Amino acid sequence: MNKKKREELLLEAIEARKNAYVPYSHFRVGAALLAKNGKIYRGCNIENAAFGSTMCAERTAFFKALSEGEREFEAIAIVGGPEGGDLRPICDPCGNCRQVMAEFCGGGFEIIFGSSKKDLSVYTLEQLLPLRFKL
Ligand code: THU
Repeated sequence: MNKKKREELLLEAIEARKNAYVPYSHFRVGAALLAKNGKIYRGCNIENAAFGSTMCAERTAFFKALSEGEREFEAIAIVGGPEGGDLRPICDPCGNCRQVMAEFCGGGFEIIFGSSKKDLSVYTLEQLLPLRFKL
């Protein structure tokens, strides 16, 4: 994936983060998932008073796409940071989100982080979850 497309996806994740519902943690996360057909699905974290019912931004994006019939994915951009504060240079996904990625994506799937276009960094799913459980 080229640099410009990665930057575009990062900006989509920054936009997605604006809709985060975070009255408990005050930590806002945004994600933008690129399907192989070029469509982008945005996600944000959505918290709940029963904390375990909270949904992460990454899985929101995946489940939106999957429920629309998408099955092939190229990359996801993820941004996060405290409400009213700076974005983290790397807001790495939790284990549950990595496992969902592993269900639908190969080792070459790209995970893009950054607080702006200037400090963007790219990892593969292979790097973030080297031994992936599958049936
Ligand atoms: N969060 C995500 O959205 N993605 C992750 O991969 C890690 C954590 C959210 C969940 C919760 O709303 C907040 O960040 C603090 O844990």
